[in-house]
This record gives sequence, C-alpha cells and structure tokens, in this order.
Amino acid sequence: MTEQNQKGTALVTGASSGIGAVYAERLARRGYDLLLVARDQQRLEKLAASLSADYGVQVEVLKADLTQKPDIKAVVQRLRGDSTISVLVNNAGVAMNGPLIEADSDAVDRMLELNITALTHLAAAAGANFVAAGGGAIINIASVVALAPEMFNATYSATKAYVLSLTQSLSSELGKSGVQVQAVLPGVTRTEIWERAGIDANGIPAAMVMDAGEMVDAALAGFDQGELVTIPSLPDAADWSAFVAARQKLGPNLSHSQAAARYKA
Ligand SMILES: NC(=O)c1ccc[n+]([C@@H]2O[C@H](COP(=O)([O-])OP(=O)(O)OC[C@H]3O[C@@H](n4cnc5c(N)ncnc54)[C@H](OP(=O)(O)O)[C@@H]3O)[C@@H](O)[C@H]2O)c1
Repeated sequence: MTEQNQKGTALVTGASSGIGAVYAERLARRGYDLLLVARDQQRLEKLAASLSADYGVQVEVLKADLTQKPDIKAVVQRLRGDSTISVLVNNAGVAMNGPLIEADSDAVDRMLELNITALTHLAAAAGANFVAAGGGAIINIASVVALAPEMFNATYSATKAYVLSLTQSLSSELGKSGVQVQAVLPGVTRTEIWERAGIDANGIPAAMVMDAGEMVDAALAGFDQGELVTIPSLPDAADWSAFVAARQKLGPNLSHSQAAARYKA
C-alpha cells in the first residue's frame, strides 16, 4: 500500500480558490489523495492537474453547487459511501455586504444554504462514515466574527457562530469515537471572498490581514496539536482558555426551577 492510500482521501469544499485551494495543496503535500469540490470545474481541474503532478497523489474533481439540494445530496452520498475518505475540510462559504434589514433575501438564503445547511449535512455524513471506520477528521472553517458579531454584518457572523457551536457540540457527541473535530476561526484573510461579496478590502489595515498560506499552516499546526478551536492570529492561547472557562462557569446556573431573584417582583 502506498503512503497516500494509508492516509486516505481529503474532501475539500471550496477548493477552487483561497483558503480551500491552500488546504488542498497542504494536504496533497502531506500525502493525502484529494477530492476537490466547488462550482468552477475548470479551476478545480487546473489545480488537480498541478497537485497530482507535484505530489504524485490522486486528485478527483467533483463539481457541485452547495446551495442546491441535489448537489449537496450528491456530495453527502459520496461521503457516506466512500470509505477511502478520511478528512473533510468544510470550507466553502460566502460573505455578504451590508446590514440584515437591507439584505436581499435570496442572497441570504443562498448564504444560509452554503454556510450552514450544506456544511451541516456534510459534517453529519462524514461523521457517520468516520465513526464506523473508528477514525477520521472534520475541519470546519468558521471565522473570528463568531466571537465578535458586532464587527461584521449580522447574517454572515451568525452563520459562523453556528459553525463554531456545531463543531463544539459535534466534538462532544463524538466523544471517544476516534474522530477528530476542529473549528478554524480565521481573521481577515487575503482571498477573493471580499471582492465576491462586493466589499473593498483595501480599506482594512494591512496589519489585520493574513495571507491564506500562513493562515492554513497555523490551522494545520493547531490540528496537529489536537485543538478543538484554532484562532490562527491569537497571540496568547490563555485568552481563549479564559473565555472557555467563563462560559463553563455559567453552566451550573443556566437551568433552575426558579427564576433569578432580580426577575421577581
Ligand atoms: N477570507 C477571509 O477573510 C475569511 C475569514 C474568515 C473565514 N473565512 C471563511 O473561509 C472559507 C473560504 O473562503 P475564502 O476566504 O477562501 O474565499 P474564496 O476565495 O471566495 O473561496 C470560497 C470558495 O467557496 C466556493 N463556493 C462559493 N460558493 C459555492 C457554492 N455555491 N457551492 C460550492 N462552492 C462554493 C468557491 O468556489 P466556486 O466559486 O468555484 O464554487 C471557492 O472555492 C469560507 O467559509 C469563509 O467564510 C474567510
């Protein structure tokens, strides 16, 4: 058996550009075969050809629009039925510009379908496959706006808070199944996402913007360290631990038979 076969196949959604394309390259370099998913077949095929030439891995392209139920279903079926898949990078996502009350409702629907619905069904299918196999990994790309909802527009931030919450719950559900789960919370990263959303990223201070290569390398370092949540730019990991501890301190008091004294007349 070759090394690639032992590592299995990594399915990367949104692999045609930005963060997903970098994940594809890094995972090929690690010896994974690849299954690249996005809408732009031409771009995927170009990337596939270059990665298989550079790293000698098998790279397959699966064209899918993950806002469309039949396409989500096709990727889900592949994840459920293909036991060579050992990693899912749930990366495909879009942002939106402007406040919720001015948002185009069809565009909101498409974003919810991609950032939430597709990501959820793919994680479920991969999780079922990996539990049966006794191992595998699910990497969900969230965003720092999950922790700072006032920083960006409401709908996008809320989709990313969902991704963080889903990943934390999923990790707890999967327990000791041997399946590794990670949420990655990038800050502003230099990709096409801004232009696609009609946002001028030139106004963002350069000191806040990370290259996609640096971001993915940090995220994979966090993955190798077994982190559940990775925030690539956060200098002090103790700040995240303190945030988690503050949340956990609420735990014992979140459900009682009596309302708190301050709510009683
Ligand atoms: N860049 C940032 O500052 C930043 C920060 C935090 C989190 N993120 C997250 O990182 C992830 C990747 O984004 P990126 O920054 O790398 O942006 P990007 O360069 O625009 O890449 C987005 C990817 O998603 C795919 N995609 C878009 N709509 C799709 C659809 N309907 N069906 C299937 N695939 C679709 C695109 O491919 P096709 O067009 O070929 O379909 C593309 O490959 C997203 O989840 C984003 O929310 C980005």
